[in-house]
Amino acid sequence: MKRYRYLRSTAALLLGVSSFAIGAMASEPTVVPEAPPFPAQGKITYVPRDSILEFKALPEYHEPDWVTEKFVKTGKLPPVAERLPKEPMVFKTGNMPDGIGVYGDTLRHVIGGRPEGWNYSAGQTQGWGGIDIAMSECLTRTAPLFQVEAKDVEPLPNLARSWEWSEDGHKLTMHLIEGAKWSDGVPFTSEDVMFYWNDNVVDTNVSPLNGATPETFGEGTVLKAIDDYTVEWTFKEAFPRQYLYSMAYGTFCPGPAHILKTKHPKYNKDMTYDQYKNGFPAEFMNIPVMGAWVPVSYRPDDIIVLRRNPYYWKVDENGQQLPYINEMHYKLSTWADRDVQAIAGSGDFSNLEQPENFVESLKRAAQETAPARLAFGGRLIGYNLRMNLSGNGWGEPDGRAKAVRELNRNTDFRKAVTMALDRKKIGDSLVKGPFTAIYPGGLSSGTSFYDRASTVYYPFDLEGAKALLEKVGLKDTDGNGFVNFPEGTEGGKDVQIVLLGNSDYGTDRNLAEGVIGQMEQLGLKVTLNSLDGVKKDNAHYAGQFDWTIRRNDPELTSVVQSTTQLAPTGPRTSWHHRAGTDGSVDLLPYEKDMVTIVNKFIASQDNAERSDLMKQYQKIATENVDTVGLTEYPGALIINKRFSNVPVGAPIFMFNWAEDTVIRERMYVAADKQGDFELFPQQLPGKPGETGPIN
Ligand code: GLA
Repeated sequence: MKRYRYLRSTAALLLGVSSFAIGAMASEPTVVPEAPPFPAQGKITYVPRDSILEFKALPEYHEPDWVTEKFVKTGKLPPVAERLPKEPMVFKTGNMPDGIGVYGDTLRHVIGGRPEGWNYSAGQTQGWGGIDIAMSECLTRTAPLFQVEAKDVEPLPNLARSWEWSEDGHKLTMHLIEGAKWSDGVPFTSEDVMFYWNDNVVDTNVSPLNGATPETFGEGTVLKAIDDYTVEWTFKEAFPRQYLYSMAYGTFCPGPAHILKTKHPKYNKDMTYDQYKNGFPAEFMNIPVMGAWVPVSYRPDDIIVLRRNPYYWKVDENGQQLPYINEMHYKLSTWADRDVQAIAGSGDFSNLEQPENFVESLKRAAQETAPARLAFGGRLIGYNLRMNLSGNGWGEPDGRAKAVRELNRNTDFRKAVTMALDRKKIGDSLVKGPFTAIYPGGLSSGTSFYDRASTVYYPFDLEGAKALLEKVGLKDTDGNGFVNFPEGTEGGKDVQIVLLGNSDYGTDRNLAEGVIGQMEQLGLKVTLNSLDGVKKDNAHYAGQFDWTIRRNDPELTSVVQSTTQLAPTGPRTSWHHRAGTDGSVDLLPYEKDMVTIVNKFIASQDNAERSDLMKQYQKIATENVDTVGLTEYPGALIINKRFSNVPVGAPIFMFNWAEDTVIRERMYVAADKQGDFELFPQQLPGKPGETGPIN
């Protein structure tokens, strides 16, 4: 109640000033309308953090019989016990929804992305949809935390099997899994960790896939190797436990140093950085991985096939080496086709995330004969319109773009834009029903840090928005329906804004069209620059956009994952405001406050303080329209019914995507339900760079 009154009075204050100044009644900022209740969510059983996995030696180990027969007995592979670490990771049976599994079958994915190549460490995408997640292992793991009791939430061990803090909290010593091997049998050691850090994250010529920079781990952070299986972090702050989340997917998943170094310019003088990045193209088969499956076959625009990693370092309590599933397919199609195929049963897995497909999918899934299970999670998929706030040269804007940046940096301009958006209409244009909610921007309503009373919402008010544009100095001087720059800026031409959009997703395209149409009502001319996922991301990272539409990332849905991205805390952390040509970020006053809050949040150990800081963040972010929310809605996980060990209530997105959340290495298909989908039955990955698997 108290907070509400406070908001109202701030609102009244704002209103007093602006209505006086512009002589028009802008509607009052208020709290965001309550989201329509959405009952269809799977019930999550919350568990203690230590009930999921442990590291220990077991009396004996097992593998699929054909591996023993065809590979071990013929001397092609050492026995399974020798391929595993001394103390492998053991998934506890009690946490497996259906218990210990059996070997066999294929997990058939469909994706809309395409592989650029395998050099994740140098920023190449493998086509998304969880293919990189299947291949990569990271120091810690966070996606499965969706089921961990709130008081217990801290990243799970993974490649780092344990860690301890120094007394003063500035040093973190991490113990790596000992005796684990890459899928080609070469030992995994601290050298892999240091190569990733020194020669990919810290080396400014390289930018790993999800944009890890040193600041992702805190400014001034140092990492060094103590021995083969120990690394030591030194932080400026004391006990910045938050960075354990940055050590999970996707910012600390080391690549195979023994392979990547052969093309890195620091180790191979004949190579350029470009050659390093592109040195392991999609055709390069059997790239060594620490993940459960290795890519063994690729046909452009058709399929990528992955086979089980014979050196995978995780087991069940019976000592069976994981994964249970022998093969993984990535059919190269479209994202919309992923839903269609999963529902029809020709694919096995989809994150139902495009609302345009909801009604059809729900109808089919409700039939008894439906091959797939469909389960909705929380309202965690959201979209924002982001305005490029760099006034000092990120993306090297020309005169027009510079003038647009100045508008973007004007709070009244951002308010005008947000007030001109009819979010109910935008949501309904995607899907009718209780799915979409009004989303003003800022933190997602699905995170535990969300506080509705701290969320400032500028309701739809076209007239108020027009008055604000006028206040900013934008008028339609030539009577063509679009506002012009003032005389003296860009020759008084029409304001023209280029909206960068992603052409791979129907939802992104529909949202872009909705925004453009509604901006036209406001008198703002917006044109669409719609690019495929890879090109769009590249344009985005290069700062080449006036506005862009972006599906939310984990900092908004979990807050604790990718926290540094909540504000321009470093030169390259924010999605819409990065360093200009001189290396500095020209922060607006409200952004300075956001940076302070986010840094305090990272440094704080006190849960009450942290939740209060996020309330402050939300208030500043939404009051100043840091991002322009468009819509948010729940997504559903679709998985073929033959699979067991799929956790109930798994959200398609929270700390990470569902492909990580469901722990695929633990999923299995009961013997009587197994399909005949394996393209390379009884075969294992071959040597790096060689074609195809071996048998
Ligand atoms: C794409 C898809 C998501 C998810 C991720 C995984 O972005 O749209 O549903 O599969 O890939 O990286």
